[in-house]
Amino acid sequence: MALDLQLGQISQMAFGYWHAQVLFSATNLGVFDALADGPLGCDDLAARLSLPAEPCRRLLDAATGLRLLVRDPDTGAYANAPASARLLTSGSPESISRWVDVMSRWYGPWGDLGEAVRLGHAVEHRDTRLGDDPAYVEDFILGMHVYNARTAQGLADTLEDPGPVRIADIGGGAGTYSIALCKAWAEARSEIVDLPGVVPLARTTVADAGLADRVTVREGDYYRDAFGTGLDIVLLSNVLHQESRDKGLDILRRALAALRPGGRVLVHGHFLEESRTAPVFTTLHNLSALVLWSGGRSYTAPEMAELMAAAGFADVEVRRTPEPSARLLVGRKPA
Ligand SMILES: C[S@@+](CC[C@H](N)C(=O)[O-])C[C@H]1O[C@@H](n2cnc3c(N)ncnc32)[C@H](O)[C@@H]1O
Repeated sequence: MALDLQLGQISQMAFGYWHAQVLFSATNLGVFDALADGPLGCDDLAARLSLPAEPCRRLLDAATGLRLLVRDPDTGAYANAPASARLLTSGSPESISRWVDVMSRWYGPWGDLGEAVRLGHAVEHRDTRLGDDPAYVEDFILGMHVYNARTAQGLADTLEDPGPVRIADIGGGAGTYSIALCKAWAEARSEIVDLPGVVPLARTTVADAGLADRVTVREGDYYRDAFGTGLDIVLLSNVLHQESRDKGLDILRRALAALRPGGRVLVHGHFLEESRTAPVFTTLHNLSALVLWSGGRSYTAPEMAELMAAAGFADVEVRRTPEPSARLLVGRKPA
């Protein structure tokens, strides 16, 4: 049996959002970016960010306590800790600050978790409706791109090069997975299909990756539009958990229709273990789907395999990937 929790661990959970809010506020207010060029005293930093000095100092001190910042014991100047300089300044290539901003937006819906559990569906929060705000779309799509880059690389590393295949990457976002696969597979071509606001962002990331000749981007709605014809691979990465079972089944049937006989669907994402109580990340992801996307849910791998079989796929196999909570399910269109 797992060890019982201690008082301190339960307290840590209860106070967890205090920590998160220091990170969110310091990122949103521009603290890490303001310190990107070097240390600043509180008054200079507050003036640069147009903040009153005293509350700003409280935030800086808490961020220092949380090791996001360091304070010079002699001058009192604040500087970014090395990890913050690398991961939280917007000019750094490894920056996850966009993703931190997305998590900060999700704080509202997560604050209504109890209500969502009581109602059985998400409580409406306008500022987390993707279609409504281009700045949110950009943070969500480009933030996810950086956040998922390593996972996408890990997935590409586990798959054998299938040669000159044609892929449709449905709900492909910034094209993170198309980019990783087409870098690994020299003869593959991929078409990213996503909503209108996402298309220009994906075109930019694909061009930046030097793959515009083999990865194209098309506007499309996976509820309505065909995914293509005679394709070798349809990729559904981190998509089906946003949808109800019925909509997921419909999307899988569309994938089947778009494939050539023998073609494969790749369903990738975070899955629950059969106990449904682990991995912890996916149990929380499952709640995130509840508070953010009406009808969204996480699956166990056998549940997803069943859904894929119901859509008409054969020989469904479940593969592990380097990301511990992620799985890849591969299904084949019967000949
Ligand atoms: C969680 S992201 C996954 C992105 C990418 N596949 C990945 O794994 O990084 C879900 C994607 O589905 C897209 N999406 C949502 N509804 C859609 C729809 N009706 N038609 C096409 N794409 C949609 C979103 O714009 C977003 O890019």
